[in-house]
Amino acid sequence: MAETVESHGARIPLIGLGTWDLRGKSCARTVEEALRLGYRHIDTAAMYRNEEDVGEGLRASGIKRDEVFITTKVWSSDLRARDFERSARDSVKNLKLDSVDLLLIHWPNSSVPLKETVGALCKMKRDGVARHVGVSNFNPALIEEAVKLSTEPLVNNQIELHPYFDQTKTIAASRKAGMTVTAYSPIARGRVKGDAVLARIGKVHGKTEAQVCLRYFVQQDIIVIPKTSRPERLKENAAIFDFALTPAEMKEIAALASPHGNIVS
Ligand SMILES: NC(=O)c1ccc[n+]([C@@H]2O[C@H](COP(=O)([O-])OP(=O)(O)OC[C@H]3O[C@@H](n4cnc5c(N)ncnc54)[C@H](OP(=O)(O)O)[C@@H]3O)[C@@H](O)[C@H]2O)c1
Repeated sequence: MAETVESHGARIPLIGLGTWDLRGKSCARTVEEALRLGYRHIDTAAMYRNEEDVGEGLRASGIKRDEVFITTKVWSSDLRARDFERSARDSVKNLKLDSVDLLLIHWPNSSVPLKETVGALCKMKRDGVARHVGVSNFNPALIEEAVKLSTEPLVNNQIELHPYFDQTKTIAASRKAGMTVTAYSPIARGRVKGDAVLARIGKVHGKTEAQVCLRYFVQQDIIVIPKTSRPERLKENAAIFDFALTPAEMKEIAALASPHGNIVS
């Protein structure tokens, strides 16, 4: 499970654990179990209110800090410079870490000048709060603006991406700007289960619909962060590096996407 993608020195594992909606002991247990199974990338956010639990799971796993890639995010109500800095520093404190590997602007907020937020984001990198910085839910126009305003390389754009949502333009814009792409809600919040196309392709490879879906993205060097609290699904979602989809299968899955297939953003 060591497959990674790189941008400006950030080596990001292609499979990570999403933690939205996980809290308390069950969150800590899930993070610990995921790390024991080989996950090396955990996605959290100040807004999820589970950073303490994620940190607890990380420590309980016994895996060395520098072997795990931790992403967190600053919520859209904290995008003024002073709020941003406080939120980022609180995140690191709650996780009980010295720094996070990746800090993202969670969601744009048009009532705060992007220059101010990007300035604060870059300061967090310079101050050592985050090793790398990036954005989330940024469309092509915002990506272009953010890159112009940034004094530090932006290494990642985390966006809603699953087989039913066509994000071709945002993926292209992110890559043009030198950023890696992370697919959030990559299995469409569980809706891929029962999909006829994914099931048929899965049958050929001895894989489930979720595995075919996740493979489809990692095969394009897109990072996936599926969330589950079930141990058997933690294993299932990570077992995607021992098979390959054919070009024809990739094309068939691509045809499932539509411009208005979003379910979150
Ligand atoms: N940046 C952003 O704005 C943003 C927005 C949304 C999400 N995210 C991040 O992305 C992560 C993933 O997205 P998500 O949680 O929205 O959706 P998701 O990962 O696409 O789907 C999670 C749902 O699918 C179920 N599931 C997991 N594995 C499965 C499998 N193998 N077969 C069938 N069902 C399965 C889970 O149920 P069980 O738990 O019962 O298995 C859960 O209900 C989040 O946790 C969060 O870290 C970021």
